[in-house]
Amino acid sequence: MSQLQDDKVPSKTVGESAVHDHTYKVFPNDLNSNGTVFGGMVMGILDRIALVVAERHSSKTCVTVSVDSMHFLGPAKRGDILLFRASINRAWRSSMEIGVKVLAEHFQTGEKKHILSAYFTFVAVDENGRPTQVPQLIPQTPLEQRRFEEAERRRETRKLQADERKILREKFKDPSQPQ
Ligand SMILES: CC(C)(COP(=O)(O)OP(=O)(O)OC[C@H]1O[C@@H](n2cnc3c(N)ncnc32)[C@H](O)[C@@H]1OP(=O)(O)O)[C@@H](O)C(=O)NCCC(=O)NCCS
Repeated sequence: MSQLQDDKVPSKTVGESAVHDHTYKVFPNDLNSNGTVFGGMVMGILDRIALVVAERHSSKTCVTVSVDSMHFLGPAKRGDILLFRASINRAWRSSMEIGVKVLAEHFQTGEKKHILSAYFTFVAVDENGRPTQVPQLIPQTPLEQRRFEEAERRRETRKLQADERKILREKFKDPSQPQ
């Protein structure tokens, strides 16, 4: 039996690891050449916040393995307050999907715009860097239940894409194969 199956780990709820409205004030050095917020800066913050959720849920060191559906829906501007939200959608054996959302709040009017959503997958690793078991997630509300079910469908898609990448890698190894 594998290490993963041997471990006895309790289940946890979404609320035990969620991050609500982490704020970030946009200053001029956060802007791109277009005068709006640089996407890479937002992505870096998101990766850290999603990591916090994964490590709170698992109580283990976690690494980012993939990011799905990162869509910038609209720009954020100088002076805006960015609000970062992140919560776990589902946990499997060693991996966890964390859903993230960013809103831009106008500092004078208080108007909030949804500017970005994405799904991060993290894997919990042991002291040797090998995948290790994480607590299962117990969805408690209808929203958490919907996210839980949708996460399983996305995992299936990720697996299909991983198979496609494997075929591509094999082709690169064999120069006689058409690219
Ligand atoms: C994370 C890592 C240790 C996993 O090793 P591995 O040999 O792929 O392990 P496995 O094939 O057993 O997969 C482990 C889990 O990762 C998941 N996984 C692997 N690749 C994935 C991907 N691209 N997307 C989503 N999940 C993935 C598997 O589904 C499995 O999940 P489960 O245990 O919940 O069923 C290894 O891929 C790694 O070190 N990657 C680099 C991570 C890193 O450095 N991140 C920072 C980038 S700067």
